[in-house]
This record gives sequence, structure tokens and C-alpha cells, in this order.
Amino acid sequence: MKTSALLSMALLLLLVSVVPTTSSDQTPITIKVTNAVTNSPNKTYSTQVAFRGILIGALRRLQESSPCFTFTYSEHPDYGPFLESVNGLAGNFSERTYWELLVKKTNNHTIRPDVGIGCYIPNANEQIILKYNKY
Ligand SMILES: *[C@@H]1O[C@H](CO)[C@@H](O)[C@H](O)[C@H]1NC(C)=O
Ligand SMILES: *[C@@H]1O[C@H](CO)[C@@H](O)[C@H](O)[C@H]1NC(C)=O
Ligand SMILES: *[C@@H]1O[C@H](CO)[C@@H](O)[C@H](O)[C@H]1NC(C)=O
Repeated sequence: MKTSALLSMALLLLLVSVVPTTSSDQTPITIKVTNAVTNSPNKTYSTQVAFRGILIGALRRLQESSPCFTFTYSEHPDYGPFLESVNGLAGNFSERTYWELLVKKTNNHTIRPDVGIGCYIPNANEQIILKYNKY
């Protein structure tokens, strides 16, 4: 009885130390929503992602905390989750519009990550740019 209690205590401590939960483990980033098709006003939001956490986690957290940000995605069998709509505006195959993922690094260079929202791991103070664009 005593041994099993100690064991579960040890297990709990292990879990607590492995899963970072405090806010100091959060990586601050901003999300910019921009539209190259209609040139409607840009919107910028601040959010956090867990240390070494993936971008989709930050998008979900932002959606929960901010009523003015929404997004949907669909699950591609090979490429994983990709953005379908942001703030109610969806990419449209027949209109050749889509949501492009760009990242403005802290050195001000903008890159196009070669992975999607389910794999990209943001670094502190990066600006994630969700750009409605045409191909
Ligand atoms: C939005 O930001 C982009 C740069 O990311 C800029 O080129 C564009 O002019 C801005 N659009 C508006 C409407 O301010
Ligand atoms: C895509 O655009 C076409 C042409 O404008 C429109 O008829 C269709 O309803 C749109 N589809 C979606 C899912 O918005
Ligand atoms: C990035 O751009 C901002 C605003 O234009 C500027 O204040 C900052 O010094 C730049 N950072 C770097 C590393 O060039």
C-alpha cells in the first residue's frame, strides 16, 4: 500500500516535470492575417505556443481566447492538417484562392516554411503570416 502510494507520487512528479505547464514555458508569437486578393485591412494577434510546440496549437489557443479569430483546417492523408479558412474566409479551388503560410523571422526575413501548420514549430517573437492569396 505504502509502496504503491510512493510509486504513484513518483509517477505524478515525473508527469509534472515532463509536461511544461507554467507560462514561463510559453513562446510568444504574433499571428498576422492578411489578404493579397482584396487588400482588406491586416489583423495582428498576439498569442503563445508551448515550448517546442507546433503552430496549430497556438492557433487553437488564439481561437479560444480571442472571439475575433477563427480558423478551420482539414486533414490531408499525406500532408497533415492544412488551413481551410481564416476568420470565415475559405480558400476556393474554382477561384484559385488559398491560405498561404509565411513566417517573418526575428531578423525580418520572411520565409515560406516547407511544412504546414501541424509541423511548423515557431520560435519566440516570430510573426506567423496567414496570407489569403491566388495561385
Ligand atoms: C498588410 O501587410 C502587408 C505586408 O505583410 C502589406 O504589404 C500590405 O500593404 C498590408 N495591407 C494593408 C491593407 O495594410
Ligand atoms: C467557390 O467559388 C465559386 C465561384 O465564385 C462559388 O460558386 C462557390 O460557391 C465557392 N465555393 C465555396 C466553398 O465557397
Ligand atoms: C526589423 O524591422 C523593425 C521595424 O522595421 C526594426 O525596428 C528592427 O530593428 C528590424 N530588425 C532587424 C534585426 O533588422
